[in-house]
Amino acid sequence: MLRNLEKSIIMSMLNIVTYPDKFLRQSAASVKNISETTQEIIEGMVYTMYKSKGVGLAAIQVGFDKSLIVYDISQPEGKRSLQVLINPKIIESQGSTTSEKEGCLSLPDLRANVKRSAFVLVEGIDRDGNPRRIDAEGHLAIVLQHEIDHLNGILFLDYLSLLKKELYKKHIKKKIRGR
Ligand code: NI
Repeated sequence: MLRNLEKSIIMSMLNIVTYPDKFLRQSAASVKNISETTQEIIEGMVYTMYKSKGVGLAAIQVGFDKSLIVYDISQPEGKRSLQVLINPKIIESQGSTTSEKEGCLSLPDLRANVKRSAFVLVEGIDRDGNPRRIDAEGHLAIVLQHEIDHLNGILFLDYLSLLKKELYKKHIKKKIRGR
């Protein structure tokens, strides 16, 4: 299912799928070959991430159910240091930490502290098809867990208390009605 499949998505702002859209709840399909379309999707994601001042973006969030993430933990300020990871998997996770005011482009107006693993070992491939192995801690570990969660249909909202979930649901309903 591809929602944004137009001929030229390079350098164009892709529509960000937001909660409660069910599209966010599916598991992403692994990328079998890195085609020209894959590269175009990546370009569109990169453009959209920077434009939206995001630190990371999963393909699912822009309507592609592909196992693909882009991130740049130097953002929103600082020199760009873009990373692209295809078929990323958490191989190992250790310890625990709490992210501070985690946010998500698919969850407008929501910021919350989330319990996360302190260290993760992630494997995937880069956009040229080379294997990548990332030993991550701190902010990077949190961003990787957040983005890889998206590929499994998980949102950080899922980790919040029932009360916080209900409050957010109400907020979004109200917002949609007010449009
Ligand atoms: Ni997110």
